[in-house]
Amino acid sequence: MGGEAFNIRRVRALQVIDSRGNPTIKAYVELAGGGYGWGIAPSGASRGEREAVELRDGGRKWRGKGVSRAVAIVNTIVAPRLEGVDSRRQSYIDRLLIELDGTPNKSRIGGNTTTALSIATARAAADQAGLELFQYLGGAGARRLPIPILNVINGGVHAGNDLDFQEFMIVPHGFNSFTDAIRAAVEIYGELRGLLKERYGATAVNVGDEGGFAPPMRKAEEPLQTLVQAVEKAGYEPGREVSLGIDAAASQLYRDGRYLVEGKAISREELLNIYQRLVENYPIVYLEDPFSEDDFESFKAAVEALSARTLIVGDDLLVTNPERVKEASADGAVTGLLVKVNQVGTLTEALEAIQAARDRGVAHIVSHRSGDTEDTFIADLSVATGALMIKAGAPARSERTSKYNRLLEIEDTLATPPLTLAPSYSASYAAANPWRVYLTGIYTTTVILANITTNFRCTALCSPGYFRG
Ligand code: PGA
Ligand code: ZN
Repeated sequence: MGGEAFNIRRVRALQVIDSRGNPTIKAYVELAGGGYGWGIAPSGASRGEREAVELRDGGRKWRGKGVSRAVAIVNTIVAPRLEGVDSRRQSYIDRLLIELDGTPNKSRIGGNTTTALSIATARAAADQAGLELFQYLGGAGARRLPIPILNVINGGVHAGNDLDFQEFMIVPHGFNSFTDAIRAAVEIYGELRGLLKERYGATAVNVGDEGGFAPPMRKAEEPLQTLVQAVEKAGYEPGREVSLGIDAAASQLYRDGRYLVEGKAISREELLNIYQRLVENYPIVYLEDPFSEDDFESFKAAVEALSARTLIVGDDLLVTNPERVKEASADGAVTGLLVKVNQVGTLTEALEAIQAARDRGVAHIVSHRSGDTEDTFIADLSVATGALMIKAGAPARSERTSKYNRLLEIEDTLATPPLTLAPSYSASYAAANPWRVYLTGIYTTTVILANITTNFRCTALCSPGYFRG
């Protein structure tokens, strides 16, 4: 196939809507050889201060959230610059977008615009190459499925209840395949629905923005206790097969040096004590944004105090920015990086952030946004980059399940036909390398070193993921 086949023939954009009914931008890239790709920018509600800026129209139409200016920029300014460029030159194209924008936070052409274009370009090149997107991005080594972490109880700005922390997740890590992990999650989600209905009535199973339930709970112990019960009721062992995670999204709780939790303005030390208590009493292996995006020192304290038991993950703290990742990783402020392409605005920069984390022994977790769409790019990205986990919401609502469904499909693609003798990776590796970390007197978790493809420093949770193919 001649190289020209990969050249970009046409670029255009369209305004569509996301899962909250807000406008967003969809970009299309067509290649000379007929390859075709598209990408839709997702949108967050608890956004980091340092995220790439979304370009929106303002005014009355679409309640100010229209993206017609972004669409016009693609069709009139960006398209002529990209036409004729080889779509496989992803970093060149992304740099071109960064230069066209010319601002440090993509406020001129919009991080939403660049995100949609960046994804559409990768998809078009993969299509032209006749490869699955994850294989195009990750090569032959892209065979590991991530552990799904599912936000099944919503609070914070994602729900109309009194829970301060934004997300309470289940982490099904003790399984031999992604398929089994999702099955467990779905069973637990069903048990949870029953428990919540019984205790709080039918309105408690209304769902928040990411498909998790939004029951009238207040203290963090309530969702955690209920989740442990749901895990047990579904027949799984908390801490061994299924653990828990929290995204405190603490930037949203931060006011003048203090944190608003359960109606009180508490100090960072008091907040750390709360986390310590929760981690001691529940099988928590994932803790995201425990402190505000400016509170670097507290993140370090959290890593020191808690990282033997749980990952300490930076979302708003790091905003998928390679420089922030380098700084925080080198300083010991995080053990996990949350990756959201639209926080930084291009695939190339997101990949740089992942590399920066990996170089410093920090795991990465690929993530959706609370306002998301049918675009399943993150599923492919997670496999392509060997992510430890993927965070894509509850097993409910199609903008969430589409990501899990894509991963089920990828697992199946890798497994059939069986080109290699794939022994049950987890079983054989676990037999060679297991040891137990005692989380509390009650919960234990099997910890398995996963230094096969990566160099992650293992904290409380380090799973081999699910190798296929
Ligand atoms: P967002 O939240 O997509 O609303 O920013 C998700 C998160 O904080 O992880
Ligand atoms: Zn977060």
